[in-house]
Amino acid sequence: MPGLIKSLETAPRADGYASILAIGRANPENFMEQSTFPDFFFRITNSEHLVDLKKKFQRICDRTAIRKRHFVWTEEFLSANPCFTTFMGNSLNVRQEVAIREIPKLGAQAALKAIHEWGQPKSHITHLIFCTTSGMDLPGADYQLVKILGLNPNIERVMLYQQGCFAGGTTLRLAKCLAESRKGARVLVVCAETTTVLFRAPSEEHQDDLVTQALFADGASALIIGADPIEEAHERASFVIFSTTQVLLPDSEGAIGGHVSEGGLLATLHRDVPSLVSKNVGKCLEDAFTPLGISDWNSIFWVPHPGGRAILDQVEERVGLKPEKLALSRHVLAEYGNMSSVCVHFVLDEMRKRSAKEGKATTGEGLEWGVLFGFGPGLTVETVVLHSVAL
Ligand code: CAA
Repeated sequence: MPGLIKSLETAPRADGYASILAIGRANPENFMEQSTFPDFFFRITNSEHLVDLKKKFQRICDRTAIRKRHFVWTEEFLSANPCFTTFMGNSLNVRQEVAIREIPKLGAQAALKAIHEWGQPKSHITHLIFCTTSGMDLPGADYQLVKILGLNPNIERVMLYQQGCFAGGTTLRLAKCLAESRKGARVLVVCAETTTVLFRAPSEEHQDDLVTQALFADGASALIIGADPIEEAHERASFVIFSTTQVLLPDSEGAIGGHVSEGGLLATLHRDVPSLVSKNVGKCLEDAFTPLGISDWNSIFWVPHPGGRAILDQVEERVGLKPEKLALSRHVLAEYGNMSSVCVHFVLDEMRKRSAKEGKATTGEGLEWGVLFGFGPGLTVETVVLHSVAL
């Protein structure tokens, strides 16, 4: 035992900060335009007689600012599995089966792209963080991914199940700890989500589930995170993870929740979520940026989780942001919907690519510092301070 403690004490730590060395992303091929979704949704769930409810669902869909969403499931699949097209009918077994099969596959598609961009042998990956709110299994999706990708059996794995939408930030916080704790550590982060766990028929008695049905979508993201990029090996950072914090917001208990039962995952989304998030964002920003002497929130780049259009609207208004600040979060919401933990990684990917395409001086829209926010059950906020890299 003393020998072990000694070796831990002397294991060399990385010299620098953890940074993002590659980003990959994936979506299922099947997608639906939001404009046609209400017709599809009420038809496939045999609910067309609920005329007023359908009109309300149409109003919600129209207000989401979502253009399309990708899904693992297809119309054929739903037709063949009628337990998905009832409200809270027993369906957990089938939902589990699909999530356990599809989540590692979707995650692997994103991971292969990240590994390809990184350009290093996959044997150099020392840690894996796999995160999903879709399904549960033992051994988990992390184990399946190791098998699919042929990763080292001695890779150190962390499996995060059932965290919700803030976990895009959580994965960065954990990856930073792991990457900085040991010289040469390279952490593969994978987030994958599917609405297979929550697709169900509309109900007049549970109208808040309409918002869930109108927002959520399927997708996966993967990142390689490590400190001290090796130039000779052509490793290149796109963002440095400077600091991370997690906080529970005051007076927010029960505002976002998710409960798994025989009918699948039923989410609660309180109407106050946008105002609860927006009124607390200022304090999160002050705590994170005062040590850096930054107080102008338009002088940093923004990567907030696009949980819903109203959340982005209210944050923009409350913080006094110029419209372009949240343009990329709005773009990801529009093109992919709310993919829970995955969304913020998509926004980061868009940002570095757009910055390069538009000839900006840095990966962060030409700016030096930026903030990534994860919002989710609790209410929990993950705040990640990022430093951009020169282009
Ligand atoms: N529950 C039930 N009904 C709701 C609702 C809610 N949370 N929010 C809005 N509605 C209803 C309204 O009452 C209204 O109904 P009527 O037309 O019958 O009056 C209808 O939806 C449309 O509302 P508005 O006309 O006021 O439109 P809006 O500008 O509020 O847009 C919205 C609707 C797109 C849903 C918007 O309110 C929104 O983006 N809300 C935030 C959604 C949210 O909570 N997202 C977080 C998701 S959770 C997450 O990301 C993290 C996780 O861990 C799961």
